[in-house]
Amino acid sequence: MGVTKKKRIRICMGMGCEGNSRELYHNLQKILKEHPEWELETVRCFGRCGRHPVISIDGEITHKLNLHQVLKRMGIEKQEK
Ligand code: FES
Repeated sequence: MGVTKKKRIRICMGMGCEGNSRELYHNLQKILKEHPEWELETVRCFGRCGRHPVISIDGEITHKLNLHQVLKRMGIEKQEK
């Protein structure tokens, strides 16, 4: 039986991004409890400060996305509760 490779979302929490990343990170933490195929990590800096929040979605670096846009890129529909 093979091991399923997880997809990875990495959020920058460096000084240039943190203000815009923190809420996004906490929201994703909650949402991804129902999506174990995704692994959530933080990064100190991607070296792209000023284009915050900088997020890597399964290897693709993105800039200035909100939660809805991030979930859409991840292929996850947000479920309203
Ligand atoms: S602080 Fe986020 S890319 Fe540098």
